Amino acid sequence: MAVYNLGSINADLVYRVPHLPTAGETLASVSYTRGLGGKGANMSVAAARAAARVVHIGAVGADGAWAVERLLEYGVDTRAISVVAEPTGHAIIAVDDAGENLILLYPGANQAIPEADILSALNGAGPEDTFLLQNETNAGRFAACTASALGLRVAYAAAPFEADAVAAVMPLLDLLVVNAVEAAQLEQATGLGPSDLPVRDVVVTLGADGCRWYNTDTGEAQHFAAIPVTAVDTTGAGDTFTGYLVAGLDRGMPMAQAITLAQRAAAIMVTRAGAADVIPDLKDLEDARFS
Ligand code: RIB
Ligand code: NA
Repeated sequence: MAVYNLGSINADLVYRVPHLPTAGETLASVSYTRGLGGKGANMSVAAARAAARVVHIGAVGADGAWAVERLLEYGVDTRAISVVAEPTGHAIIAVDDAGENLILLYPGANQAIPEADILSALNGAGPEDTFLLQNETNAGRFAACTASALGLRVAYAAAPFEADAVAAVMPLLDLLVVNAVEAAQLEQATGLGPSDLPVRDVVVTLGADGCRWYNTDTGEAQHFAAIPVTAVDTTGAGDTFTGYLVAGLDRGMPMAQAITLAQRAAAIMVTRAGAADVIPDLKDLEDARFS
């Protein structure tokens, strides 16, 4: 049981702003912080916090040793992170008073992960393991094909949404996680709603409306109510949900239990400023006493 996560690693440059800027606007920020982020890194940390064994597959530049050290400190196996010629990826993130964000990405090293390194990272993985990916790295389809051929369960968060990337991995997927916007984009691109997709389990997160799990084998859909929270910063909440969900499933939990755990982790995450550095662990979930 291990989660092999092909994922982005970013420096998150976070600017607190009174409102999100519009085109042509110059806006002074109230504060600035730098932290660890990247949808992939966030998912790895979340899965590790959820007690899964996590192998992160990715790349940083020569300037990224701090990020690798931090992932290691958070319990992630970092041996499959390559150091490449491109600089480490970064994200410029504006967060407003309502906790909403706007993200500008510089992919850098995240788009230069060597395929040979992916192959050696997956060497030894098998049917008891899970492969996870999102859309912030290169080689997604290559890695998902390799993992699928080795018998791993393949889980995918279609974020940031890219119709071609989704189409390329769809036939390989066991689990698809999308938010409401991505679900609509997917329906636009394919003409298929969540229950019609050729993927056994589809989970659609709906923000304040909770989430819905579609089991396309049985044709059943199950709704999970949201945990009400006051948003401080939604950054990384979706990634935390996915990381926890995949970790739960990898550890053998039934879907409903893994979703409930993932919802709790994401709810806490929404109340915390930052991304990978502030992802709650199982103890935090216990202490939070959800109603
Ligand atoms: O989902 C949030 C993440 O998106 C941030 O941490 C940022 O790095 C971008 O990848
Ligand atoms: Na957050």
